[in-house]
Amino acid sequence: MKMIVSLVAALTVGAAAAMAQAPSVDKEIAERIAPVDKTCMQGDKCAAAVAAAPAASGGAPRSGEAIFKAHCTTCHTPGAAGAPKFGNAADWAPRIAKGMDTLYTHAINGFNAMPPRGLCTDCSDDEVKGAVDYMTSHSK
Ligand code: HEC
Repeated sequence: MKMIVSLVAALTVGAAAAMAQAPSVDKEIAERIAPVDKTCMQGDKCAAAVAAAPAASGGAPRSGEAIFKAHCTTCHTPGAAGAPKFGNAADWAPRIAKGMDTLYTHAINGFNAMPPRGLCTDCSDDEVKGAVDYMTSHSK
């Protein structure tokens, strides 16, 4: 009997919690079934953010140059913390000599003071590789 009582209590608490959640759930549903004209389509003014979405979330992959300019240049242009400088063949030659696969892996996973993905948390592997290709091909 005691078990049944606590079961009822648990159900009551559960129902109360569900009721307390109801307004936010309603709002969520309202957002999901919002009319089509509220949806941002590619090409619409509101779609700038959509177009900038990374490949990881289904958008077109950004170019190596774009990734470099948005993320890698911070350290690789001034040579911060010993980063090989963009455009500096002497800095890059010994790195390139290690093989591109090593550079890709180090760029994706990090290497000493080089942070994983150069701090571009939403970059796909291919986008990071593209940025490595961009830096190395402009630093020979
Ligand atoms: C916070 C600063 C910082 C940012 C941002 C950064 N890097 Fe680096 N990177 C470094 C440093 C420092 C090194 C040198 C690490 C070492 O050799 O010890 C380095 C080294 C590298 C190397 C050579 C690795 C090797 O094996 O010699 C590659 C490739 C590289 N970075 C790619 C990138 C790419 C691509 C981005 C942008 C997506 C990026 N980095 C952004 C700091 C940075």
